[in-house]
Amino acid sequence: MSSRDSIGVRPDTILDNLKTAVVCLDSRLRVTYLNTASEMLFGVSARHCGSEPFDRALPYLADHREKLESALYKGAAFTERELYLRAGGGDPLTVDCTVTPFTDRNGASALLLEFLSLDRQLRISRDDQMRVQNLANREMIRGLAHEIKNPLGGLRGAAQLLEREIDDDELKEFTTVIIREADRLQNLVDGLLGPRRPPNKQPLNIHEPLEHVRALISSDLPADVTLKRDFDPSIPEIKADREQLIQTLFNLVCNAVTALGGSGEIVLRTRTQRLFTIGGTQHRLVARVDVIDNGPGIPRELLPRIFHPMVSSRAEGTGMGLPIAQYLIHLHHGLIECESRPGQTIFSVILPLETSDD
Ligand SMILES: Nc1ncnc2c1ncn2[C@@H]1O[C@H](COP(=O)(O)OP(=O)(O)O)[C@@H](O)[C@H]1O
Ligand SMILES: [Mg+2]
Repeated sequence: MSSRDSIGVRPDTILDNLKTAVVCLDSRLRVTYLNTASEMLFGVSARHCGSEPFDRALPYLADHREKLESALYKGAAFTERELYLRAGGGDPLTVDCTVTPFTDRNGASALLLEFLSLDRQLRISRDDQMRVQNLANREMIRGLAHEIKNPLGGLRGAAQLLEREIDDDELKEFTTVIIREADRLQNLVDGLLGPRRPPNKQPLNIHEPLEHVRALISSDLPADVTLKRDFDPSIPEIKADREQLIQTLFNLVCNAVTALGGSGEIVLRTRTQRLFTIGGTQHRLVARVDVIDNGPGIPRELLPRIFHPMVSSRAEGTGMGLPIAQYLIHLHHGLIECESRPGQTIFSVILPLETSDD
């Protein structure tokens, strides 16, 4: 019995249920087949692609003609990892791509293309893993910060007592150093401890804290940096802690200003979005605030760790801005996501518009 018969399912059904996008091209690089995952990935309809040249049917692949021709003529398969695809208008895609030549029913050369979208995978895995990791990190950091805080208080107190007992000015300089450095450490530890109180949630219009942050930042923005608004005024009120939202948004916008290094554009965009899953809960409607800048982007190797504590690319950075922002939004049952490439970085704050415990 062949395995093909034994499962009793038509190959088309299987192909259409695959998460992998599958495309077939004929010997003239015309599209002969697209599965459902391809339609979703490339935002096209299989009905409109039939027999079209691949670059017309799938503009995302237009830049890759040479590679496809070479695979076809040499009959050599290849795989490209983290291939970056872009097409005018559409969101850029990152995919792992495998191209395999084969001979079709008529004996002509043809190509089988498989695409695994990494954007989607990154987002989903980040979503759940990040929440768990963020909470674990917070606990570890808070524990450590408390351990440092107590002896630090003793150290500072002792130095103050000593200072009073000493008459020699030269020796007093040493106690001054101890006290100053203890205060510096104290500030650092306070930063690590993060918010002390649970969120005080009140109904508010998301644009109010956003406008507040805009005003704060606008006052000393470099001359060549513009800060634009693209608001959806119809977003319903959310229940949130105003101060914590301001702290979060301020952090994200400050990071964008820093990244621009003196010139560029920041857009504050608000939207609603239907059906969004956060930590296993599907929300019917969420509010999304995007902080978008056209700066250099986050270095690729840094991107997966960007929300971890003490990850910073700046000499004077603490690397605590993003983990604390993420923590504050978690307290609101939301999530901060990031998407970055050279020329565009988007931090999205997602907040559910209904939660059961409010
Ligand atoms: N909009 C952005 N563009 C480029 N890189 C960014 C952006 N926002 C954050 N980053 C990167 O993320 C790192 C961590 O940010 P953050 O947690 O706020 O810490 P810090 O600002 O103290 O470095 C930054 O050092 C920077 O490398
Ligand atoms: Mg920062």
